[in-house]
Amino acid sequence: MSLRRGVTNLSRFLLEEQRLFPEATGDFTLILEQIAFAAKIISREVNKAGIVNILGKADSSNVHGEEQQKLDVYANEKMIQALDHTGKICAMASEEVDDVIDIPSKYPKGKYVVVFDPLDGSSNIDVNISIGTIFAVYKRISPEGSGCKKDFMQPGRNLVASGYVIYGSSTMFVYTTGRGVNGFTLDPSVGEFLLSHYNMKTPNEGGIYSINEANYHKWDERIKKFVEHIKNIKERQYTSRYIGSLVADFHRNLLKGGVFLYPGDTKNPRGKLRLLYEANPLAFIIEQAGGKAIDGENNILDIVPDNLHQKTPLIIGSKFEVELFQKYWTGELK
Ligand code: AHG
Ligand code: MN
Ligand code: MN
Repeated sequence: MSLRRGVTNLSRFLLEEQRLFPEATGDFTLILEQIAFAAKIISREVNKAGIVNILGKADSSNVHGEEQQKLDVYANEKMIQALDHTGKICAMASEEVDDVIDIPSKYPKGKYVVVFDPLDGSSNIDVNISIGTIFAVYKRISPEGSGCKKDFMQPGRNLVASGYVIYGSSTMFVYTTGRGVNGFTLDPSVGEFLLSHYNMKTPNEGGIYSINEANYHKWDERIKKFVEHIKNIKERQYTSRYIGSLVADFHRNLLKGGVFLYPGDTKNPRGKLRLLYEANPLAFIIEQAGGKAIDGENNILDIVPDNLHQKTPLIIGSKFEVELFQKYWTGELK
């Protein structure tokens, strides 16, 4: 693939990747391009949110009982509108919608399903801190017609693509189709995502740990021992970084190395993050980038879901730190 940083846009990259699969029909390419289109629209609103009346609460709440922000609802609408007419998918699912989202009967159905967190890090919208969008794509397993919940109850191992958008100092689109991880930065002057991070790999060990230490009193003893261990590693001085937007914390650690943890605790044994549209998509990315993602004992991608919105503890990042946590969690280290 003849790639040149900065002048290879996402469309060209997707096309060249598609050419590697003679049987490819281009359905997949169109899905990713439409998600990127929605990301541009959301990015535009995020970047002027303070000016137009799109900050603040939407006077509604989602299936988790969490107050929805106006941008949560807006981003959700844009993702659905970008995908529902393509004829390439048979259903969608979203953090912001209780049940499976059907494709309107006037549009043809396709062989994929898409699940997404349309806006991640909502609590940070009004204080101008980086937020994101997270998505994952499966091939349907239901035979034909409208998709159904069963199409989403697949382990992350079955994902055909996943990725995220980070709306930060720049807007980036980072994705994998199982052939490595590549990052594209939006050039607003031309409205194109341009290749900026080719074949992203995460360091085997990092120097950052990210966890909300306000939950310390609810942690299992093994979590406390892991954090204590990390703080006292002689060979390396770790630093604590926690933004409160999963995409932003994940992206920084992907590039610099380190570990993000949202473990379960005495109050929420399964933690806060959702398997289908937060943990799985990022676990696919991190494995492709040479890292690891577990729920404590098991690989995130091996978990078979039974609910669209089920939660899971998430420990994700550089192999050294994640495997060190796993040794504490499974009792190998005391
Ligand atoms: P969302 O805005 O999609 O609900 O996600 C918020 C999540 C995630 O982005 C972040 O890592 C986590 O909430 C932060 O939770 P705490 O504030 O409990 O640390
Ligand atoms: Mn989220
Ligand atoms: Mn969200």
